[in-house]
Order: sequence, then structure tokens, then C-alpha cells
Amino acid sequence: MWVRSASQEDLETISKMLTETWHDTYDKIYGREKVAELTSKWHSVPALKQRLNKPLSEFIICDDGAEIGGMAYASQTDNETTMLHQLYVRPETQGQGLGRTLLIEVEACFPDVRKIRLEVEEANERALKFYEANGFKVVGSTPDCGVKGSGIPAAIMEKVIW
Ligand SMILES: CC(C)(COP(=O)(O)OP(=O)(O)OC[C@H]1O[C@@H](n2cnc3c(N)ncnc32)[C@H](O)[C@@H]1OP(=O)(O)O)[C@@H](O)C(=O)NCCC(=O)NCCS
Repeated sequence: MWVRSASQEDLETISKMLTETWHDTYDKIYGREKVAELTSKWHSVPALKQRLNKPLSEFIICDDGAEIGGMAYASQTDNETTMLHQLYVRPETQGQGLGRTLLIEVEACFPDVRKIRLEVEEANERALKFYEANGFKVVGSTPDCGVKGSGIPAAIMEKVIW
């Protein structure tokens, strides 16, 4: 697997990968129906396309030439902060270092930025442990993970780079 920028041709596959990963991760927390509703809205090809060419942002994937194993999307929100909006690894390729590889690449993409911030569902223990193992600390919480009004509570984590 190597890391590269996502292109328009990848979006259909990324959309399917996100749907699969979301059901695997969140069905037990939100229920299958709610996950289907959220993922069809947030991970449709048109929704992903909006992120492709956004300024001060990086949309990257892990690819072995045959399939996409994971993706990350991050954007710079101010002079000192990068927001990691999405980090997802397909269920069958989790635990093989892809998440860590994508995280390192996100850090490298924003060399002038002092810290990385993210929001993570508090019941998603695996992700919380993963981020803690990779230098993030919980610094607060939000009632609206992802988008304003989502009603999904989440922990806010930060990693100070320098
Ligand atoms: C969370 C996620 C991105 C991690 O990616 P991954 O490729 O599975 O993780 P990696 O294999 O890179 O793990 C790197 C390190 O994190 C730590 N880690 C990973 N899973 C862990 C766990 N369950 N418990 C404790 N530490 C863990 C370990 O230190 C691991 O290093 P190791 O090589 O010594 O085992 C991935 O599992 C995923 O996509 N999960 C579902 C979706 C999700 O929750 N995304 C995050 C939304 S905010």
C-alpha cells in the first residue's frame, strides 16, 4: 500500500469504502438505519467531490493498485490548527499500520501547523485508543460531531506537533 492524493476517479470506491467502514464501526452505536442515513448524505460522491479541490486541505488514500485500504481528509482551519475531518481504514485492513501511515502523512502535509485536532465518538473506544497511542489527548467535547446540528456527541482530541 502507498499513500497518494485522491482523484475524481477514486470517489466511487472511496464512497463504498466509507459506507462499509461506517456500518462496521457505528451500527452498534447509532443503529443500522441512522448510519445508512448519515453515510448516504456525508459520503456520497458529490459530497466527497466538494472536498477534492478545497484550498488548504488534503484528501489522501492508501492504495495497493487493486484496492483502496483507507482514506484521510484534513484541512487547515487557522494559522496553527489542522482539523482531521476523516480517517477511515477498511475493516479487513485495520490493525496493519495504515491508520498510522495516513496520520503521519497528514502531519507531513501541513508542516507549518502547530497542532492537529479531531472529533471522535466517545463510544468508539478503538479509535480513542488509536489516537492516544499516536500522541493525541482529549481536550474537550462537542454535542455536534462533524457538522453543526448533527446532535452526535464527541470528544475533541488534539496533538501538539511543535
Ligand atoms: C481507528 C483506525 C483509523 C486506526 O487505523 P488502523 O490502520 O486500524 O491502525 P494501525 O494499524 O495504524 O494502528 C497503529 C497503532 O495504533 C494503536 N492501536 C490501534 N488499535 C488499537 C487498539 N484497539 N487498542 C490500542 N491501541 C491501538 C497501536 O499502537 C498501533 O500500533 P501497533 O502497530 O503497535 O499495533 C481504524 O481502525 C479505523 O478506520 N477504524 C474504524 C473507523 C474509525 O473509527 N475511524 C476514526 C473515526 S474518528
